[in-house]
Amino acid sequence: MARFTHKTLEKSSILLTVFVLIVVAIGGIVEIVPLYLMKSTIERVEGMRPYTPLELLGRNIYIREGCYNCHSQMIRSLRSEVERYGHYSLAAESLYDHPFQWGSKRTGPDLARVGGKYSDEWHQIHMARPKDVVPESIMPGYPFLATTALDYGQIEAMLKANATVGVPYTPEMIENAVDDLRIQVDPDSLPEEFLARYPKSSVRDFDGNPNMISELDALIAYMQMLGTLVDFELFEPEENKR
Ligand code: HEC
Repeated sequence: MARFTHKTLEKSSILLTVFVLIVVAIGGIVEIVPLYLMKSTIERVEGMRPYTPLELLGRNIYIREGCYNCHSQMIRSLRSEVERYGHYSLAAESLYDHPFQWGSKRTGPDLARVGGKYSDEWHQIHMARPKDVVPESIMPGYPFLATTALDYGQIEAMLKANATVGVPYTPEMIENAVDDLRIQVDPDSLPEEFLARYPKSSVRDFDGNPNMISELDALIAYMQMLGTLVDFELFEPEENKR
């Protein structure tokens, strides 16, 4: 009988398929089994809170306009990424994202920590005509966002829907959704209760136009909070605590 060598495998498509499957299965098991032995794959971290109603609508506009086609929201734990964008993304930072916005395309830079990187004015100009702040930009402008009134008629239902899939929106948050949205864009409001519900939120007129709550208000509010909730001065990975 002929010896069973690598050649035997390469000559029989069925044998080759069977052995490929075995090899791939070993790789799969090594990756998957540890996940079942862990208490949780998502480490809880200090500081994460659900999106404010305004940020949630900004996020919806981000999805509607397809920003994810050019922007990722996940900083990988590689040196080049961490030096460019900041601390690598934690699973917990996407905990309340339904659906998550990790993305797989980077025509533009990662946005996971774009919050606070630029002023609201910068975003206002950049969203209207990116080339006015970044001359070599190939990002399209979205000037209509500044002139389109934000439709927040469904905001209560949206919070409820998110609560259904596990985002910890309380009945109080749902009940106050419309008020909370208006408070966040009004620098003259009394935001104490709002801030108690949503710590680390910014209250201001994001689009620079006090006469209208625009879609740009929501989008800038969303971008300015991205990656700002977890305080990385205090964060220590679970691994290091053991
Ligand atoms: C066709 C691809 C494309 C699309 C779609 C796109 N962008 Fe961009 N974006 C870019 C590129 C390229 C840059 C880098 C040049 C610049 O700053 O304009 C960029 C830069 C940015 C920056 C600055 C990031 C930084 O750290 O400097 C922000 C913020 C941003 N985009 C937000 C958005 C939002 C919000 C949307 C959706 C409304 C969007 N982009 C849609 C390509 C795109």
